Amino acid sequence: MFDLLVKGGTLPDGTVADIGIQGDRIAAVGRLEARAGQVIDATGDLVSPPFVDPHFHMDATLSYGLPRVNASGTLLEGISLWGELREIATVEDMVGRALAYCDWAVSMGLLAIRTHVDTTPDHLRGVEAMLEVKRQVAPYLDLQLVAFPQDGLYRTATGRQNLLRALDMGVDVVGGIPHFERTMEEGAESLRDLGRIAAERGLMWDVHCDETDDPLSRHVETMAREVTRHGLGRRAAGSHLTSMHSMDNYYVSKLLPLVAESGMTAIPNPLINITLQGRHDSYPKRRGLTRVKEMQGLGIPVGWGQDCVLDPWYSLGTADMLDVAFMGLHVAQMTHPAEMARCFTMVTETNAQIMNLSGYGLRPGCTASLVVLDAGSPTEALRLRPDRLAVVAKGKIVAERRRNDTRLTLAGRPATVRRRHG
Ligand code: FE2
Repeated sequence: MFDLLVKGGTLPDGTVADIGIQGDRIAAVGRLEARAGQVIDATGDLVSPPFVDPHFHMDATLSYGLPRVNASGTLLEGISLWGELREIATVEDMVGRALAYCDWAVSMGLLAIRTHVDTTPDHLRGVEAMLEVKRQVAPYLDLQLVAFPQDGLYRTATGRQNLLRALDMGVDVVGGIPHFERTMEEGAESLRDLGRIAAERGLMWDVHCDETDDPLSRHVETMAREVTRHGLGRRAAGSHLTSMHSMDNYYVSKLLPLVAESGMTAIPNPLINITLQGRHDSYPKRRGLTRVKEMQGLGIPVGWGQDCVLDPWYSLGTADMLDVAFMGLHVAQMTHPAEMARCFTMVTETNAQIMNLSGYGLRPGCTASLVVLDAGSPTEALRLRPDRLAVVAKGKIVAERRRNDTRLTLAGRPATVRRRHG
């Protein structure tokens, strides 16, 4: 007797299995005949572990147009606008917008998010707000907070001190933004400083690293060195890494083995990288996405992050990690069947690995969180970005949706359109 039984679904590896859930854990996977308090019929549908987003900015989300839109569309105008907004946004404003976003996320089967929280202002209202959001969503959504010195660790008088205050308040991960410090040397020094802080406190480390089109921005190299020095390995992640797109190929042939040796992971953010990078180019215009397939070829875990939804940097977004993977697949040209399947894995298992989530997956003993999609396979899910028919979080059904087929009334030929193929 299970509390909840998910019947007949197709798992991402193509096997068909029932999933029996007791409490907040998966109790059994296979052909199960036992009765259950609740049953989800997933026959013919894809059943996946939940989507995971390892890179987001929840203190800024759903604020598009406040205090005004980003007219140039650049990263730098976005940072400037956010600098104004964070001074007028109250804790209640930020909590309200973040909780609304979390509802969107749950409806899309996105149940774990790492969000960077700006620790620049002395008032630290964003930190206070995100700690409250983390507490409220904990029963159904795992939120990791990163202490993120948006204006640079050293560019403001209290930048370093406020980052440490945020960590003392309970923020989980150490951040960084070396390419935004005043000089390359100060950027490198910030990485030595932040790597030491992460190691001494036993925390994970996730740096906005080389989010620039400058081919000579060399902070990934320094970060990899510090990750190796402190033995942080998979507990460290480099976000964006867009300068790598523009770097000299010979230099990259030296850099990537050093990144692999360090054990660190990588988080490109394709929706935002394709939007913000290349803004200073005429033509040809660079894509600005980091070297995804090349890193994966060396065994470096690379996920896909979302970064922004409706905020000073990005005017669209839906909390759907399949949109993120869809864009990544195109920009990185990952069109081979194995590469398309990998894009789905990147927004599920790989992102979970990057966030060091425990109990993630669809095996007995794992946390009972999953999503049922109106698709037959991971690749079809990427093509359709389909309805999430059911979402289960920690053993409880938290979202349900009816299948969205369209009925046509055509002359002499009534029909129902199903976008699924095969
Ligand atoms: Fe970011």
